[in-house]
Amino acid sequence: EQNHRESLMIVSGYAAKFFHESLLDTDEGKSIGYSYFKERGFSNDTIKKFELGYSPDQWEAFTGEAIKQGYKEEFLVESGLSVKRDNGTLYDRYRGRVMFPIHSFTGRVIAFGGRTLKTDKNVPKYVNSPESEIYHKSSVLYGLYFAKRSIREEDNCYLVEGYADVISVHQAGIENVVASSGTSLTSEQIRLIGRLTKNITILYDGDAAGIKASLRGLDMILEEGLNVKVVLFPDGHDPDSYVQKFGTNAFKTHIEQNKKDFILYKTDILLKEAGNDPIKKSEVIREIVESIAKIPDSIKASVFIQECSRILKIEERSLNTELNKMRQAKA
Ligand code: GTP
Ligand code: MN
Ligand code: MN
Ligand code: MN
Ligand code: MN
Repeated sequence: EQNHRESLMIVSGYAAKFFHESLLDTDEGKSIGYSYFKERGFSNDTIKKFELGYSPDQWEAFTGEAIKQGYKEEFLVESGLSVKRDNGTLYDRYRGRVMFPIHSFTGRVIAFGGRTLKTDKNVPKYVNSPESEIYHKSSVLYGLYFAKRSIREEDNCYLVEGYADVISVHQAGIENVVASSGTSLTSEQIRLIGRLTKNITILYDGDAAGIKASLRGLDMILEEGLNVKVVLFPDGHDPDSYVQKFGTNAFKTHIEQNKKDFILYKTDILLKEAGNDPIKKSEVIREIVESIAKIPDSIKASVFIQECSRILKIEERSLNTELNKMRQAKA
């Protein structure tokens, strides 16, 4: 109920402040967390705006202080900030990690992502808050609170994979950017964007996982009736690393020169895989028509059929036959 949710948000807000101050005002936080963010090219303004923080590398630094300040165990545990041991005592979920608070649509802190500073492969790179009454992963987009005004103004939303991508792209002056952060994109998240704009541009990582996720995301976005474009980054780069390495102008140019509508994008990728094999090529055509069949607006769909016909050099008539078959199968 309302009071319960409010208590969870209050303790989360307190934690954000604790981690932020620990980053800026403690020796450990400054020498480890703050210098890490600086090395990644995050400015002081950026660190303040996103309330970035550091969790001390101890078992009970946060929990102990929170209890001392009067925060109840119930809310510390339910928010995931503290974890209960078998013997009933509590310890900190986040230890020795740089902290990314996750804000609600209205700017309240509702969860955290904590990044390890170790390179050890056995340590999870990010630890995230568990589901709670204030944090439903599938309906949250990282950065949306900071992006919403710009998404409306630009009538477009850039969709990236991770926290650092949102922050670096935002710092470069492109503020209409959000991340699904780890969880694969959901229809709830797409609808959230859909209230602000009908146009999404996917900027996923230039690796196999990013390409796979972009193909899936593209179909889901079409199904929700939104327009989608995709930009691929060079292998090994993500939006964060690209904009930090090459700068804002190069980043913008890369987007303009590589932005593809979904048919071009999907054709490119699938045809590359198919080579000259005619059977594989016909499978490519079927897959693209499958995407077009997801578009609820039939006029829009027929425009894409025309484009598909042009690119693949296939008669429109046979594409339409295929499209109708798929539509009937779905109905
Ligand atoms: P950096 O190395 O800090 O630049 O992270 P990244 O955002 O580039 O990481 P990556 O592309 O591997 O993952 C994208 C997003 O997925 C991250 O920002 C996280 O939100 C999420 N993610 C990555 N690794 C993990 C993990 O080990 N656990 C969880 N829960 N989420 C993860
Ligand atoms: Mn409850
Ligand atoms: Mn990735
Ligand atoms: Mn990255
Ligand atoms: Mn990445």
